Amino acid sequence: MEMIVRGGRALAGEARVPSDKSILHRALIFASLAEGVSRVRFHQMGADCRSTRGVLAALGVAIEDDGALLHVAGRGPAAWRAPAATLDCGNSGTTMRLMLGALAARPFTARLTGDDSLRRRPMRRVVEPLLGMGAAISGAEGGDRAPLTITGGTLHPIHHRSAVASAQVKSAILLAALQTAGETVVEEPLASRDHTERMLAAMGAPIRRDGTAVSLRGPAALRAIDISVPGDISGAAFLLGAAAMIPGSRVTVRDVGLNPTRGGFLDVLGRMGASVEIDSGAEEAGEPTGAVTVRASGLRGVVVTPAEVPALIDELPLLAAVAARAEGVTRVTGAGELRVKESDRIHCLVSELRGMGVRADELPDGFEIRGEPAGDRGAALHGARVRSHGDHRLAMAFAVLGLAVPGETVIEGAECVSVSFPDFESTLHELATSW
Ligand code: S3P
Repeated sequence: MEMIVRGGRALAGEARVPSDKSILHRALIFASLAEGVSRVRFHQMGADCRSTRGVLAALGVAIEDDGALLHVAGRGPAAWRAPAATLDCGNSGTTMRLMLGALAARPFTARLTGDDSLRRRPMRRVVEPLLGMGAAISGAEGGDRAPLTITGGTLHPIHHRSAVASAQVKSAILLAALQTAGETVVEEPLASRDHTERMLAAMGAPIRRDGTAVSLRGPAALRAIDISVPGDISGAAFLLGAAAMIPGSRVTVRDVGLNPTRGGFLDVLGRMGASVEIDSGAEEAGEPTGAVTVRASGLRGVVVTPAEVPALIDELPLLAAVAARAEGVTRVTGAGELRVKESDRIHCLVSELRGMGVRADELPDGFEIRGEPAGDRGAALHGARVRSHGDHRLAMAFAVLGLAVPGETVIEGAECVSVSFPDFESTLHELATSW
């Protein structure tokens, strides 16, 4: 499917975005391990979270919904049953990695696979610690690639020092630790998003934090939870980033998650000179929420340091698009993880942005963009035909830049947007016409 956007229209108005993908995956998985019926209110579910739901249903968990409210009938991990068929995680790394952790202590065999993109992504980072705890896992490339076969059993606790700051690795180990006697510790080089820690604490798990180390003494039962999942700041970021760079724009996104471990993009946008207004709202199961308003203004390039990367890892493709319209150079380093996301986000991003006239360069662990502010003479930026490389965040980043440059941008393979933001195109359309 192609998405076509034309530059030159300001965005104005209010929007809602789909429920936070990271939080919704966790709500579904943790509720399926808990004792009792959890109620999970959500607004639009992308394909990734539907993959998680499908995998849990295949393990015998009863999940019902009326379109906006899910009832998850948790009966504890012991009620999970061996799946009759291979578990399909689709495009979702979170589904595969977290489910490996959740399955590591289940006394049956399950096989997990995914689409072409997911089957190319590294799994050793979760497989290795889970093997260390006593699970049996095998797969392609020595267990580093799906399809993976896991046979769970009685586990023993570990102290794991992860080489990468990864919430998926941390969460997989904590899910196994819930079902393991003794204290398991996970340490990461920098703090990754902490939704797992917040939700497990809200469900009564004995979880402790000490700097970038998290420990959990198992076995621990989880209480059912009632949660209204806030909007995804990573989806909202596309609308807010577009508002920042298209002259005359002003966009508000309501009911969005404001967890500080996910807040890096708003911080950086503010540093670039955008007007960012945050209106705090209620907490939801330990997660701060609120409304965010961004108004267009002249932007300048920015340096993003490695220490800042975990809090905006998913927003870096978008940041590159915004930087294309900022005065001066934007440089991001310490983001080598981008090479193993849904695509090689450094290579694919830079090559497609160049097709739109952006002066962009790859760095081994990041990128550099030399921006061209709106209204510059001799405008080099222009709409173009670009490819999504099957990566939802690239597709949306190119659409946002397409709105901010002259001419027409055609994004090939735009169907992948439904992974996280099924109504992205219509939401943009409404903001562009709600004058
Ligand atoms: C996620 C963690 C991040 C992020 C991904 C979702 C999560 O990945 O990029 O989109 O929900 O735990 P890593 O944990 O691999 O860094």
